[in-house]
Amino acid sequence: MILHQFFEKESSTYTYLVASEQTREAVLIDPVASEIESYAHMLKQLNLKLVYSLDTHVHADHVTAANLLRTRFGCKTVLHRNSGVDCGDIFITDRSAIRVGEFLIEARYTPGHTNACTSYVIDTMVFTGDALLIDGCGRTDFQEGNAETLYDSIHQQIFTLPDDTIVYPGHDYKGRLSSTVGHERESNSRLGQGRSKQDFVEIMKNLDLPYPKKIDIALPANKACGK
Ligand SMILES: [Fe+2]
Repeated sequence: MILHQFFEKESSTYTYLVASEQTREAVLIDPVASEIESYAHMLKQLNLKLVYSLDTHVHADHVTAANLLRTRFGCKTVLHRNSGVDCGDIFITDRSAIRVGEFLIEARYTPGHTNACTSYVIDTMVFTGDALLIDGCGRTDFQEGNAETLYDSIHQQIFTLPDDTIVYPGHDYKGRLSSTVGHERESNSRLGQGRSKQDFVEIMKNLDLPYPKKIDIALPANKACGK
């Protein structure tokens, strides 16, 4: 399997290219519109065919490259059914699975940051979008976010994976690339050490975060797959 992690500086977003060495089929998870040339370059360099672009959720901080990629490469756009977006090609639900070459991509519904967040499990990796971040988690004060729901999602859908599952988040603001389920279950400052749901809700309520800078541009654009 081929894995490449891209970083978009403005919104500190990670995008992942995962591809089959055998069939040369590739997927991009959370691609950013402004970075499309680097994806195109990498696909060409590795001789890969892009078959799916998957978004973990409707992003508020960057514009998805879903539509640009579909136009350019003929790939299919994958989103959760609850996204409230009708431009997708494939609408997934919890435990939907997509085969790409020798691997399966399993969707795990992890709402709470938004009402339609999905994490994707591939082999011993989980791509968590903004549900679980390294030593943190996505905010829960916009897009039908809900701290109690996020707590349940992370506990039931991510912390139940084996300890050595590699966590690849949708963002990191400190340059960290990945973590593991075991490490986050143990050390995540909002959720680790068996922290209670009540404590977590209290932490989330008191974060006092600023209004998301790009939300008024990104949300309408992403509801049209980035058009
Ligand atoms: Fe987000």
